This record gives sequence, structure tokens and C-alpha cells, in this order.
Amino acid sequence: MRSDKNNSQYSKIAKLFHWGFVLLFVYGVAKQVDDINQLEDQAFFRFEIIFAVMFLFLLLIRLIYMKTTQKTSLPENTPRAQKIAAKIIHNGMYILLAGTVLSGLLIGFLYWLEIKSGLLIDFVIFIHELVINLLYLFIGIHIFAATYHRLKRDGVWSSMVPFLKEKNKY
Ligand code: HEM
Ligand code: HEM
Repeated sequence: MRSDKNNSQYSKIAKLFHWGFVLLFVYGVAKQVDDINQLEDQAFFRFEIIFAVMFLFLLLIRLIYMKTTQKTSLPENTPRAQKIAAKIIHNGMYILLAGTVLSGLLIGFLYWLEIKSGLLIDFVIFIHELVINLLYLFIGIHIFAATYHRLKRDGVWSSMVPFLKEKNKY
């Protein structure tokens, strides 16, 4: 019969992508551009662009890998609305991660075109910051949901998180 557990574990590669991206994202935010004038520094500018392109490329590989080889570990009998909510948050994080990088690259492109101030670049910076703040919100909901599953002890937490595992069950 339908189970309230789903024992599917994410593969080692899936976990590496998930946690590797958490580190990359934290690093990306920590070294964020605080002021657009920082882009005057050629080496900084080049590094920012290389980091962003690499991030986007790895995100694409991760997305393809996850969608073709892995499935959610939500229990089968999870309410439909909750399954849809999880999908929206997961896919939303992919879209917002890509949106952060693409809007950042667009800022870089405008800057390279010598459009360093004015309405256009201010608007793209506004979008960049809006997307990042939405991403923070989605990540917050995601961690809240993961914690809820940990308390529910339904195996979802332990399928991805290497610490505080549900020892006696999984
Ligand atoms: C930058 C922060 C994070 C991002 C962008 C993120 C993104 C994602 C995404 C997109 C998935 C779906 C599987 C995939 O495509 O890889 C996922 C799954 C998961 N994440 Fe995260 N995550 C983050 C941080 C965390 C943290 C801090 C925790 C726990 C404390 C966590 C726990 C989980 C769990 C338990 C799953 C499996 C959910 C399921 O199978 O339905 N994540 N994460
Ligand atoms: C993985 C890629 C990136 C991440 C994670 C990231 C992260 C951030 C964060 C967290 C902020 C601050 C947002 C806020 O205060 O609400 C920011 C602002 C900004 N970012 Fe990015 N960014 C990325 C790529 C880029 C790229 C490639 C460029 C341009 C070359 C860029 C240019 C800027 C600028 C100009 C600002 C606004 C600075 C200001 O307030 O004047 N970002 N970014």
C-alpha cells in the first residue's frame, strides 16, 4: 500500500551538487559587489564574470542531472498541494539562482558597454537585488520545510542532509 515514507536517497553526486551550491552561493553573496564602482577594477571585474559564468554552467549541469536521474524523497501520500508547493520552491530556486547570475551578467555587460550610470543600469541593479531577495525568501521557506520534515521524521531530511539524521529509522 501507499507509504508515508519514501526511502529513496539522493545519490552522492546529487548531494555534492546540493551542498556544493550552498557553499558557492554563500561565497557569491559574501563577495558581493557592494558598490558599482568596484567594477572599475579590471581584475575584480574579470573574476566576477568568470565566477558568474562558471556558476551558471554548473547550475545547468546540476539541473539536467537532477531532472534526469533523481526524484523527490517526499512520501507518496504527501498531500497534492504540498507536493506542488515543494515543486514551486525547488524549481523557483533554480529560476532565481539563474536570474541572479543572468541579471549580474547583464550589469557587467552594460558596464562593459560604458553604460555605468543612468536609468537602465539602475533598473537592472534593482532587478538583480529583487531577485536575490526573493531567493533569500525561497531558501528560508525551503529550510523551514526541511526542518518540518525532520520533525516529522519521514525520511525527507535524511535523504539530503548529512547531519542530525533520523538514526533509529534510516
Ligand atoms: C543555498 C541554499 C539552498 C538551495 C539553493 C537549495 C536548493 C535545493 C533544491 C533545488 C532541491 C531539490 C533537489 C535538487 O534539484 O537539487 C533541494 C532539496 C533538498 N534540500 Fe536544499 N537547498 C539549500 C539549502 C538547504 C539546507 C540548508 C537544507 C537543510 C538544512 C536543505 C535541505 C534539503 C532537503 C532535505 C532536500 C530534499 C527535498 C525533497 O526531496 O523533496 N537545503 N534543495
Ligand atoms: C553568482 C553570482 C552573483 C551573486 C550571488 C551576487 C550577489 C549579490 C548580492 C547579494 C548583492 C546585494 C543585494 C542587496 O543588497 O540586496 C549584489 C549586488 C550587486 N551585484 Fe551581484 N551577484 C552576482 C553576480 C554579479 C555580477 C556578475 C555582477 C556584475 C559584473 C554583479 C553586480 C552587482 C552590482 C552592481 C550590485 C549592486 C551594488 C550596489 O548596491 O551598488 N553581480 N549582488
